[in-house]
Amino acid sequence: MSKRETHALRRRAFLAGGAAVLGGAALATAPSPPNPKERTMRIVILTGSPRKNGNTATLAARFAEGAQAAGHEVFRFDAALAKVSPCRACNACGMNGPCVIKDDFEALREKLVEADVIAFATPMYYFGFSAQLKAVIDRFYALAGRLHTPKRCVLMMAYADTDARKRDVLVNHYRMLLDYHGWTDAGQLIAPGCWPAGAVARTDLPQKAYDLGKSL
Ligand SMILES: Cc1cc2nc3c(=O)[nH]c(=O)nc-3n(C[C@H](O)[C@H](O)[C@H](O)COP(=O)(O)O)c2cc1C
Repeated sequence: MSKRETHALRRRAFLAGGAAVLGGAALATAPSPPNPKERTMRIVILTGSPRKNGNTATLAARFAEGAQAAGHEVFRFDAALAKVSPCRACNACGMNGPCVIKDDFEALREKLVEADVIAFATPMYYFGFSAQLKAVIDRFYALAGRLHTPKRCVLMMAYADTDARKRDVLVNHYRMLLDYHGWTDAGQLIAPGCWPAGAVARTDLPQKAYDLGKSL
């Protein structure tokens, strides 16, 4: 098959929801998700807030502490403090190759591929992930073929509203992201009614984040 045909096939698979075709072989032959009791896991935490001591940063930090207490290896990537350009849709990567953009995402590439667990910690911005974290997620595109391996994921999200329905768009986006990659959910910590940085500290969620990290 020519490079052009391979590329076209990948594009069709992506548009069709991809995991079945793009990740089919990998999913069929890959081992089941690792049993946490058996070995140290590699955990990548992706944060999306520009507030260094914000609510989601607090949850991410406690989650990391729990995971490290359980002996796991944690790599944290703060998208809002890093230099990550949005995907240019140049397709030079063919959804499975080097990205033409050389920025801080380079430090994350192999960590994502090797991760057993990916934790997303984001504030809600206009009902979705923060743009900073979304830019990182869009850069998964250049890794698509290599990310369709069993992984577990966590969502930590804070928002100001108290209406539970307002979380649906973001949570559904997260679920679809997992579904597309063939990943499974290991837990969600949602903090409503949190507007100022530090608000989450008055809830039991930081402790729950620690417990979740430790229980992986
Ligand atoms: C640009 C922007 C957009 C926001 N959009 C929403 C929103 O749609 N709904 C909501 O309830 N809160 C919204 N918020 C509030 C944040 O979600 C809230 O303050 C959250 O706790 C921030 O988390 P952080 O401390 O981790 O940054 C928004 C805040 C900003 C700065």
